[in-house]
Amino acid sequence: MTRSQPDLFRRQALACDHLGSPMYAELLARLADDLEAGGPTAHVLRGHEDDPGPSGLALRLTGSVHRLVLAGAAPELTAYYPTTGRSWTTGGVAAVIDLLDRRGDEVRPLLDHAPQTNEVGRSSALLGGLLRIVERWPLPVRLFEIGASGGLNLLADRFRYRDDEGGGWGDPESPVVLDRAWEGAPLPLERPMTVLERGGCDLHPVDVTTEDGRLTLTSYVWPDMSARHARLAGAIELARREPVRVVHNDAASYVEGLELRTGRVTVVWHSVMWQYVPRAEQERVTARLADMGSSATDLAPLVHLFAEPTRRTPDDRHRFWVVAQTWPGAGEREFLGQMAAHGLPVVWE
Ligand SMILES: C[S@@+](CC[C@H](N)C(=O)[O-])C[C@H]1O[C@@H](n2cnc3c(N)ncnc32)[C@H](O)[C@@H]1O
Repeated sequence: MTRSQPDLFRRQALACDHLGSPMYAELLARLADDLEAGGPTAHVLRGHEDDPGPSGLALRLTGSVHRLVLAGAAPELTAYYPTTGRSWTTGGVAAVIDLLDRRGDEVRPLLDHAPQTNEVGRSSALLGGLLRIVERWPLPVRLFEIGASGGLNLLADRFRYRDDEGGGWGDPESPVVLDRAWEGAPLPLERPMTVLERGGCDLHPVDVTTEDGRLTLTSYVWPDMSARHARLAGAIELARREPVRVVHNDAASYVEGLELRTGRVTVVWHSVMWQYVPRAEQERVTARLADMGSSATDLAPLVHLFAEPTRRTPDDRHRFWVVAQTWPGAGEREFLGQMAAHGLPVVWE
């Protein structure tokens, strides 16, 4: 069934409410009303009536407006956007609709950008999984990420993680602090970890060392989710000091170019990208991992670590499981824990 635009906006509003953005819950619900009434929102979105639901038109629109605000190009909205230091109030709805009315021509071209995020909170799942890996193989790590976006999670070992019990892991001076990162079974926090090599690929890599890259990743984070913004800003600061190379490549071609190294644990990881990879390409990734895994040894192990919507059993629904597949061996899947959509907290098994 094809859903109408107002319907898609209302569904997105409910999702934002559920995931912790009362601002977008209210704004998107009111934009849905304006769409239905044929107001400025409908004018700006003319020509997008048949855009497929997964293209995220509602988030493309709010992200486009947010980008103007962040770039300092929409001073009439700064009074309502938490990312400019203010608080959202209901008056912001009329201000956004007024901007769409007067400056629709500036918003329309921005709608062509697909929402692009790099969710730093998901490092809590990836790094926690990595701690379990180095407990098993206490070797230096080579880290490779597919669908790495801006490469920020490749700096996961540079962040500070704190759990509910007052424990933690990582650099206490790090500009990225992940509070209440971990619950459930304790992680082996005492293990030293050295990442010797890191790199990633993406179909649309974002260069976070540029202002354009910063604006891209920041504009799609919902403005009233201040902890997500703080993590993102901190990780971009780190990446500017210590850039990570994310090459423009598809996941399968990238993994096909990897090899194991003796004396290192080779880790291929990813989060919330697998659903976008075409089936044939997924099969190429899986085949290459199994092929590399067949020559893995305890001195040159291979780990496929991911935090993706996954079914644990065929009857279960999709949940954000953190899963490790390891070689040598049969590459069986071990379900390590479950994360929230934006990463925190992870509940370890
Ligand atoms: C939802 S984002 C997640 C980014 C990052 N992994 C995170 O958790 O923040 C999905 C990313 O996967 C990338 N992507 C989608 N299909 C891909 C493919 N076939 N090969 C490589 N990257 C892909 C997209 O460009 C996008 O950056």
